[in-house]
Amino acid sequence: MTFSGIKELVYQRTGLTFDAYRTMVLQENITRHMAALGMDEIKIYCHEIRHNKGLFDTLVDGLTINESYFFREPFHLDCLSQGVLPGLLAGETREEEISILSAGCSTGEEPCSIAMAVDHAHGPSVLSRLEISGVDIDRTALSKARTGIYGKWKLRQLSPAMLSRYFDPIQGDRYVVKPDILKKIDYSHHNLMDAPRTKMLQSMDIIFYRNVSIYFDTSTRMKVFSHLDKMLKPGGYLVVGSAETLSHDTGQLTLVEMDGCFVYQKTANDRSVHGDHPCKSTPGSYPPPTVTIKIENSSKTLSGTREESSGSLYEISLSLAREKQFDHALALLAPMVEKKDEMMEKVWILRAGLLIQKGDTETATQLCRQLIGANLRCAPAYLLLGMITGMEHHPLESLKQYHKTTQIEPNNWLAHFLIFQTYQALGNRAMASRQAAVVIRLLEKGQETHHGLDYFPFSFSREDILQLCRKQSPLNA
Ligand SMILES: C[S@@+](CC[C@H](N)C(=O)[O-])C[C@H]1O[C@@H](n2cnc3c(N)ncnc32)[C@H](O)[C@@H]1O
Repeated sequence: MTFSGIKELVYQRTGLTFDAYRTMVLQENITRHMAALGMDEIKIYCHEIRHNKGLFDTLVDGLTINESYFFREPFHLDCLSQGVLPGLLAGETREEEISILSAGCSTGEEPCSIAMAVDHAHGPSVLSRLEISGVDIDRTALSKARTGIYGKWKLRQLSPAMLSRYFDPIQGDRYVVKPDILKKIDYSHHNLMDAPRTKMLQSMDIIFYRNVSIYFDTSTRMKVFSHLDKMLKPGGYLVVGSAETLSHDTGQLTLVEMDGCFVYQKTANDRSVHGDHPCKSTPGSYPPPTVTIKIENSSKTLSGTREESSGSLYEISLSLAREKQFDHALALLAPMVEKKDEMMEKVWILRAGLLIQKGDTETATQLCRQLIGANLRCAPAYLLLGMITGMEHHPLESLKQYHKTTQIEPNNWLAHFLIFQTYQALGNRAMASRQAAVVIRLLEKGQETHHGLDYFPFSFSREDILQLCRKQSPLNA
């Protein structure tokens, strides 16, 4: 095993992927680790890394990205305190505690924020009914979390009142979390790629899984998502980072709107409950594209061959996309992508949307750029670029792309809705409310309800979106 072997081993065991920059980081970490161990033979190092778990973990500790801060994406915490928790507490007949897991808790900012938000909203009696735990693959991050000590930068979202209520200042411009919060959190090492331990199965009422999957490819995302699903109690909730929500809407768990927020819930209808898990079919192992599809409530079998007209192939592909059969849909589109006919723009946009679902944002970006190169006013291409950059955690770039869409199509409610969500994620409530009002106006007018994307990777109806925006609109305040 050589360098590429180590890279593959890390990917297989942790799900971490390596672009050019991250490959350089891996190389530097290996060099440093070998020096610390006094090794100069890469082959011996490779052998040790494969067989010595402690050494493997030390290498991984240097590769994870632990960026986190207190009250990040605060609307999720509001949603927990105002929506999810009161519902669960009302339904609790037993004296059982409510368990909350921060999956990928890094240095502890997320689980501490959860405890502080609940204490702030409901007081210590409700906090005492919670069991909060944090797991991470990075042992160094977990050790820091257990100290509860943070620099000022991590506390940048907190008001002075919250700071003095939940932290004590210590030497060197640093702060320590007050003991009543810190002692509530149980930190432990766990790799989300590993099947949940028996005691973790169906043990969680709420899981926060935010800003972890951005470093995973599609198959890892699916695998981790199914592990988290297994950890949830029936009726439990999964809160995913706002930029990641779209890429997890695979039908495995049900996407629900809760107090102005999109979260997943494990309901009786979920595929996992019935054992029909999408992970069972591996990408590439699909049968040829002869498929049964449903169009306007009728179910028929159609064969996607080159003899079909572009229009009908497109419609079939679109139906498949909506049924989340992404590989089938892409396979059907394949013969059409080279055709320079009137369908070309629609075909490319659908293809880009499907590639986003499959996690191939690089090819989707190229397609969108080519479309814009051919037609500067191709609004759906900007919309998709905005979604991609949003998923890649570049909210400001994402806002730029959505604004370009609204410049071309001022009535594009979806672009306004995505601007609303991005401002929400940035914690800019004033701008978010303003955009929510625009979405409501456009959707209530009902004149232009199409937003340019025939396939939008989001299983939400116009009514759901309206309801969500109404809760955030200033007219509702
Ligand atoms: C960017 S931090 C996110 C922290 C926090 N959830 C937040 O939103 O602020 C991502 C964390 O995921 C952890 N992580 C990455 N891969 C993991 C895995 N396979 N199992 C457990 N934790 C993992 C990393 O160690 C890192 O601490």
